[in-house]
Amino acid sequence: MTLNIVVGITGGIAAYKAVGVVRALVLAGHDVHVVPTEGALRFVGRPTLEAISRNPVHTDLYEGVAEVRHVAIGQAADLIVIAPATANTIAKLAAGLADDLLGNTVLASEAPVVIAPAMHTEMWRNPATQANIATLVERGVTVVGPAVGQLTGTDSGPGRMEEPDVIVAAALARAASPSTRDLAGRRIVVTAGGTREPLDPVRFLGNRSSGKQGVAIAEAARARGAEVTLVAANLEIAEPDGCDVRRVSSALELQAAVTDAAQGADAVVMAAAVADYRPAAVSESKIKKDASGDGLTLELVRNPDILAGLGAAPHDGTLLVGFAAETEPDDERLLELGRSKRRAKGADLLVVNRVGWSEGFATDENSVVVVDRDDTVVTRLHGTKTSVADGILDVVVSKLTSTTERTKEADPA
Ligand code: C5P
Repeated sequence: MTLNIVVGITGGIAAYKAVGVVRALVLAGHDVHVVPTEGALRFVGRPTLEAISRNPVHTDLYEGVAEVRHVAIGQAADLIVIAPATANTIAKLAAGLADDLLGNTVLASEAPVVIAPAMHTEMWRNPATQANIATLVERGVTVVGPAVGQLTGTDSGPGRMEEPDVIVAAALARAASPSTRDLAGRRIVVTAGGTREPLDPVRFLGNRSSGKQGVAIAEAARARGAEVTLVAANLEIAEPDGCDVRRVSSALELQAAVTDAAQGADAVVMAAAVADYRPAAVSESKIKKDASGDGLTLELVRNPDILAGLGAAPHDGTLLVGFAAETEPDDERLLELGRSKRRAKGADLLVVNRVGWSEGFATDENSVVVVDRDDTVVTRLHGTKTSVADGILDVVVSKLTSTTERTKEADPA
């Protein structure tokens, strides 16, 4: 489907890279209208933008008044991408200012907005910028990056604009994903990553979970309007913006964080890979290889099953979603394992996925089956972890809605 895409370019040195964003969107078959700020035109010329976008480029609010251009561009847009987004533009967007054509275009549009911030690390970390980003995320804006790397000068750190192909992929995924804010007013707790069980000050028993699927769920829930607490266990990827992140390492730390965050939550999604066992004793000093001869026997004790604990305790109004990562190759047996795991843990939904040496962990794609309390397969999802996240949340939303409706029927007051 051809989308009408507005690419806003603002006045940062990364504006030259925005030409790559425009080109990729045009080559993907979309109709692209570039709206640069005056500052952007100091970094990249209008003829370049017109040639690459194959459309006229306007900046002036007082040109084309007869065709009401200041609102027409935004009203016609299916998607707005602002790359680079400077700290100044981010502040203006957060405040709803409309003192140039880009500001008017964004205000006059109902299209999803994707921004790719680019600035120096100090400006990005400034509490004013962070508060503005939080406001935009709260309103459903998708923030791509910034990446960590070499900045314009000799310095480096977070603030570099994400690469054009990453921005384009995120923007098109956003345009394709539900633009609804069907989780507004809901509080969702997500666990992600893999626990590490310490053996001594320098060693641990861990697993290969990267945290990608859990982070994708947290990000998707945030974009759909939820207030999200992310209990993050040793993530291998960046923490998402706009979530209340609680960092943990071991299963016991994860249990304390999730038990606290789950109080009064609408849903708890347990995507983290939690160790079933931990060393019985943690050595205060590094275990020496010569202390135990040729071999070393570790004594392990069971960790509490956190999900089962939540399932067994009263949790009225909190939907519990568990995950089962299994190596079982047979589809039917895999599903049966999922169903019995859901029962054993008292979860409302169980997301079953197959994992292996090259499947599941650390990849960008996933295939899952979701089963509910009736043992029914509610959905089968295959795709990027982002699209799988949205599919899982579709089920969460439908279960939350039906519970709310049942509660209203039971208590019409
Ligand atoms: O039993 P298994 O580890 O396969 O269960 C997976 C599900 O249970 C996941 O949702 C995981 O987060 C959760 N779990 C837990 N506490 C444990 C082990 C797993 O909550 N100790």
